[in-house]
Amino acid sequence: MSKPLIVVNFKTYDSASGMSAERLAQAMNNFADRNFRMVAVVSAFDLASVSASTNGLEVWSQHLDPIGKGSHTGWLEPDLAIYRGAAGTIINHAEHKVELEHVKQLMAMLPEGFPICACAADVDEAIALAKLGPTFIAVEPPELIGGDISVTTADPAIVSDTVAAVKSTNPEVRVLCGAGVKNGADVKMAIQLGAEGVLLASGVTKAEDVNAVLDDLTS
Ligand code: G3P
Repeated sequence: MSKPLIVVNFKTYDSASGMSAERLAQAMNNFADRNFRMVAVVSAFDLASVSASTNGLEVWSQHLDPIGKGSHTGWLEPDLAIYRGAAGTIINHAEHKVELEHVKQLMAMLPEGFPICACAADVDEAIALAKLGPTFIAVEPPELIGGDISVTTADPAIVSDTVAAVKSTNPEVRVLCGAGVKNGADVKMAIQLGAEGVLLASGVTKAEDVNAVLDDLTS
């Protein structure tokens, strides 16, 4: 089995934007040689600087639009994101929902093998997304996002049920889970429940001691 993923969504946290995004990504990079695939999911504004300031850390975009080059204003156009360092993307996050058609059209525009992680609020949405064949589906109950209780504790069944449903819909799709994930025990539980990694934010972005949290997450 390939390395489990620890995907940290920087969102628009001040502690994970601009110069702070670079510092946080550099801290993550120091743990990238452990047995996890570390991914920083940064603002589009920070793709270039974070990519340039980390030595090979995998950097993803928080969103992309199925928009090509041309007369389009204010969209996140995939080719430019890739040029600026995006090596993957999440899509349909609970805080930035899109139509299924958006995901479908975006996938058709992305280069072969470009990782796309579609977020799902529940098993039904995960099944609908799995039919499109994204690289990953991250199941995140919206009510647990930003909270203190990990999805793996509050609702372990949604993780195992999503894994089962996604695998029976499309065995190629890999499942992550997120919402409230804070520590290494949550990561271990996610893996026990069948997920291939976690998607988290505040546990890292709001940490008083980021290195201690990253150490714990990757131990
Ligand atoms: O994208 C990750 C996210 O929505 C979970 O956030 O703060 O609960 O880890 P958090």
